[in-house]
Amino acid sequence: MKALLISHDSQLYAELASQGAARVPPLKMAANRASMRDALDRPVAEPPELLIIDASDATAGDVDLLERLARTYPSASMMLLGGQQQPDLLIRAMRAGVREVLPLPLVHRAFHEAMDRIAATAGKAALRDGKVLAFIACKGGSGATFISTNFGYALATLADKKVLLIDLHGQFGDAALYVSDQKPQMTLSDVCSQIARIDGPFLESCLVHVAPGFGVLAAADDPAQSREAKPEHIDTILRVARQHYDFILLDVGRQIDAVSLRALDTTDTIYPVLQLALPDIRDARRLLDIFRSLGYSLENIRLVVNRYEKGGKLRLQDLHSALGAEVVHTVPNDYIAVTDSVNQGVPVLQLARTSAAARSLAELVEMVTARRVPESKGLFDRLFGRGDSDY
Ligand SMILES: Nc1ncnc2c1ncn2[C@@H]1O[C@H](COP(=O)(O)OP(=O)(O)OP(=O)(O)O)[C@@H](O)[C@H]1O
Ligand SMILES: [Mg+2]
Repeated sequence: MKALLISHDSQLYAELASQGAARVPPLKMAANRASMRDALDRPVAEPPELLIIDASDATAGDVDLLERLARTYPSASMMLLGGQQQPDLLIRAMRAGVREVLPLPLVHRAFHEAMDRIAATAGKAALRDGKVLAFIACKGGSGATFISTNFGYALATLADKKVLLIDLHGQFGDAALYVSDQKPQMTLSDVCSQIARIDGPFLESCLVHVAPGFGVLAAADDPAQSREAKPEHIDTILRVARQHYDFILLDVGRQIDAVSLRALDTTDTIYPVLQLALPDIRDARRLLDIFRSLGYSLENIRLVVNRYEKGGKLRLQDLHSALGAEVVHTVPNDYIAVTDSVNQGVPVLQLARTSAAARSLAELVEMVTARRVPESKGLFDRLFGRGDSDY
């Protein structure tokens, strides 16, 4: 954690620096300003997470400065040192957002207790509230694995989201191979067999890391091992995952079992993937019937049509009327780009970013994240436009 200390007392600075360095994780005095006015005149470029304000010389008139400081660093916690002799100052300081007031000279134990409280609150605020999205193939080979893995990569790289993909295939899971050449060291069944250890860092350590914000938890490659996974394990994994990732994508195999069913129960949106052909539509109908019988709301089920080609005999409208669920997205048939990507284990967006398949995945990212980008210069322009892209 980085702190800005506002004090002209160099001894206090040294004392806080050494107490801060002894903490785990350390508290670093990243900057020092002599007074509140100095801090307002010379704002710190990288916003601190904590303001420590020496109020031993402060007067009631300084509260305005304190309020301005709180507005300048809205996400920082505030700690006031000294100033107890001025109740008026303290009340207004509390109103300005100061949560900790400690006397001077500093009592080290009280300082560390206050820091523990600040760290706990900051930790809670930093927890994410991830969404779980499941991709499920209506028929073998519909493209659920290609779409979920490549969509995960696109979400992480284009929208800067922290994404986890869990391969829920009980057998023959291959999601990691679609976007990486690394052999998974740990799989879903390893996580399940050590479920008591689970927390954010442990989960992260079990992933195949595809991109800085994107990891895949591979399926067990041995069917005997896959039995390690129990429905209650998946509940725990998803609960922890929601706290640490923005999106958790599930690649659900066609064989719905007790584990994938439990995962689907808590999924925010289910994306059945199908191609526009009668056998796929028949299987999609069966799948939707199962979802209905399980009491899932159709509102949370959104069809994705893969390998879509305009002008075919079957139209999207026919699909809508046959299945009664909304088609939210189509991914075009893009044989060369997709086959190259799948064969090489490199995300299509990385391998062929102007391909039709990559563009379609970028569109899906825009839709799912509902990014508000100016019309003249949307994600598309920045991604595929001339060399001024942010991505
Ligand atoms: N949009 C597309 N354009 C062209 N080819 C595609 C497209 N999507 C998927 N494919 C091809 O279809 C094959 C099957 O896709 P994928 O493995 O993703 O399907 P799946 O639904 O996961 O199947 P399974 O039931 O085996 O899990 C892939 O090897 C890929 O080459
Ligand atoms: Mg698959």
